[in-house]
Amino acid sequence: MSQVTVLVGAQWGDEGKGKVIDILTEDVQQIVRYQGGNNAGHTVVIGDKKYVLHLIPSGILHEGKICVIGHGVVVDPRALIDEIKLLRSQGIDVNKDNLKISDKAHVIFPYHQKIDELREARRKKGRIGTTKKGIGPCYADKVARVGIRIADLFDKKYFKSRLERNIEEKNSVLKHLYGFKGFSVDDIFEEYMEYAESLKEYVCDTVVHLNEALKNGDSILFEGAQGTFLDVDYGTYPYVTSSNSTAGGACTGAGIGPSRIDMVLGVVKAYTTRVGEGPFPTEFGPDLMDKIRQKGGEFGATTGRARRCGWFDSVLVKNSVAINGIDKVVITKLDVLDELDSIKICVAYKYKGKEFCTIPGDPRFLDECEPVYEEHPGWRQDTSQVTSYDNLPENAKKYLGRIRELIGTDIMLVSVGKSRKQTLMYK
Ligand code: GDP
Ligand code: IMO
Ligand code: MG
Repeated sequence: MSQVTVLVGAQWGDEGKGKVIDILTEDVQQIVRYQGGNNAGHTVVIGDKKYVLHLIPSGILHEGKICVIGHGVVVDPRALIDEIKLLRSQGIDVNKDNLKISDKAHVIFPYHQKIDELREARRKKGRIGTTKKGIGPCYADKVARVGIRIADLFDKKYFKSRLERNIEEKNSVLKHLYGFKGFSVDDIFEEYMEYAESLKEYVCDTVVHLNEALKNGDSILFEGAQGTFLDVDYGTYPYVTSSNSTAGGACTGAGIGPSRIDMVLGVVKAYTTRVGEGPFPTEFGPDLMDKIRQKGGEFGATTGRARRCGWFDSVLVKNSVAINGIDKVVITKLDVLDELDSIKICVAYKYKGKEFCTIPGDPRFLDECEPVYEEHPGWRQDTSQVTSYDNLPENAKKYLGRIRELIGTDIMLVSVGKSRKQTLMYK
């Protein structure tokens, strides 16, 4: 039976979505990105090969699957062309039959990246710690109704007039506020004409494509990028990305109706990480931070930045379950906790003398609240070689059971390593 699944990150991104997508791809025909851009970095390890996908859905690594970049994604054509080239050099076939790009996706331009970079550099306090890929400024143009879409690149006159108008405005800001010389319309026009030519064969109306696929009974997997608390509406605003990374984004960013979605799957790390600035109540102190960062390889797949690490926060994930309508979760990176004597789980927050199991809108709440912890004994055994759930150490099973209870959701799979085979069916 065909199945439409939306997969989302339930924390602050980097939960291991790439690995889970790779496993689920076997059972679907279409894999679809619906938001974000090349700020994402989804790692898939197959045998001794490692692939990091930024814009192209992770399903591209499987032969015979169709990968779709929906209109909710912001596309940096240069980054996309480089990604296609890199995949080809790694022996992965990318062609017009297995990659479809929405003609309505908005395009990232060099001025978006420059503004992203200079705006961050200028902020002494309140820096977001963006990936500097131009994501925020591109989405800002989309919402301000001055953006340029993929289809616009194929109408030279129209494209040039929009580009001229945009560059005039951006150059004025760049020069006067940031002291940057600005961009040339002709240079960007020429450069983007070449990109358009290279990408032309992949471009189509992906809404029509996906709705046809649904009619034909294809199973579809929506690959969320980022994570729930980086969502521009639900996340820890303003320390968020600029798109809807939650499950609803699949409808607005790919053009399928909510009634078509059969299941929402949340990917949850067995602890918590975040990269970039912003509140993080369960963040570790320096000793544990270093230990878990090294053991978990917690360095950004896109920027290489060290990720901040902390205890599992059940309040956050429970919230995520509600916001996304998560039916089941996959718990990843359990093996990273193998060596700990004891493990904490945040079960509530204390703020101004009161206990909270939700996250109020008060902007100071997450910065100033104190996490309330439960402490569980560790298992101090290697789980990365365990091949069935039954053989996990008892304390590891208890830890997972407690997470399940706290977030009120069934666990589908437990991941104990990077490779496909290090994945256990939860019982
Ligand atoms: P994504 O953005 O959610 O796809 O996650 P990333 O790829 O940015 O980061 C997850 C990292 O953890 C990658 O390096 C994965 O190879 C790795 N990983 C995924 N699952 C596991 C696991 O169960 N155990 C360990 N040790 N590493 C894992
Ligand atoms: P995946 O899909 C983790 C973070 C950035 C920054 C904030 C805003 O690999 O999980 P942006 O460049 O989007 O304007 O940056 O969002 N961020 C991510 N953090 N994983 C990601 O993607 C991220 N994409 C953006 O670090 O804090
Ligand atoms: Mg990532």
